[in-house]
Amino acid sequence: MEGEALIKVDDVRHAFLSKTGEEEVLALDGINIDIARGEMVSLIGPSGCGKSTLLNVVGGMIAASQGHVLIGGTPVKGPRPKDVAYIFQESALLPWATILDNIKVSLEFQGVPRASRDKIARISLTAVGLDAFGDSYPHQLSGGMKQRAALARALSLRTDILLMDEPFAALDEQTRMIFSEDLSRLLANEHKTIVLVTHSLAEAVFLSDRIFVFTSRPGRIKAVLNVDEPHPRIPTFMTSSKFNDLRNRLYELLRDEVLAAIGKDRQGLA
Ligand SMILES: Nc1ncnc2c1ncn2[C@@H]1O[C@H](COP(=O)(O)OP(=O)(O)O)[C@@H](O)[C@H]1O
Ligand SMILES: [Mg+2]
Repeated sequence: MEGEALIKVDDVRHAFLSKTGEEEVLALDGINIDIARGEMVSLIGPSGCGKSTLLNVVGGMIAASQGHVLIGGTPVKGPRPKDVAYIFQESALLPWATILDNIKVSLEFQGVPRASRDKIARISLTAVGLDAFGDSYPHQLSGGMKQRAALARALSLRTDILLMDEPFAALDEQTRMIFSEDLSRLLANEHKTIVLVTHSLAEAVFLSDRIFVFTSRPGRIKAVLNVDEPHPRIPTFMTSSKFNDLRNRLYELLRDEVLAAIGKDRQGLA
């Protein structure tokens, strides 16, 4: 695999169809992205520009109208749970199962033998600092803890690829920055290939090797920013001038796209 992309998005275009089969919403157009093994990339762009759609195409949940995605050189034809784990904005934990059982159910689904499920689940809970909460139910946890549990579940699956769709979006800003620090530390040892959708400029800069900036819908890649900084990223990076320069650059790139996306709503304000 050396030198070859682990994930290759090859000229992907996707239009959602109306009930009568006509192209209704062109979500993505002409997307080309090569992601190397072990790379951490972020997708950022205005709301509705097709970020989640692209993540779903990569994960095999949506078949693109045109183009394709290759994982390890093989075209993606459907979900590949052995290769790809997901974390969503909402933790998607089963409310009636304890945190430990939530992870064990996923492991069962993955075909992990019963005898090793408990051990694997406990190791991943410890990794995210939730070892004392295995017997708690999701409703007993704070939003941040639920996302940690979802992260533990995703890590326990030991997939090469982790797709994260705004995993911190429901958390307050301070919690999410701390979560980013923890995530950076955790992932530095995991050698996973990660695609993170976020609307936080700071999060994108703090966590990523490369940031793909999308245009407003239909989503196209407007720019790619490199963040040349070793992992794990440490808190002082967040207050460095390099960090601020990158975040400002990102904001400049995004501002017009966000204005275009919300332009119609704003016209009355001028
Ligand atoms: N299942 C669907 N059917 C029709 N349109 C959809 C569907 N899912 C998303 N869309 C539309 O496609 C565009 C891109 O959506 P999405 O990928 O969710 O954007 P983002 O994640 O960047 O906010 C939006 O205009 C959205 O309304
Ligand atoms: Mg989305």
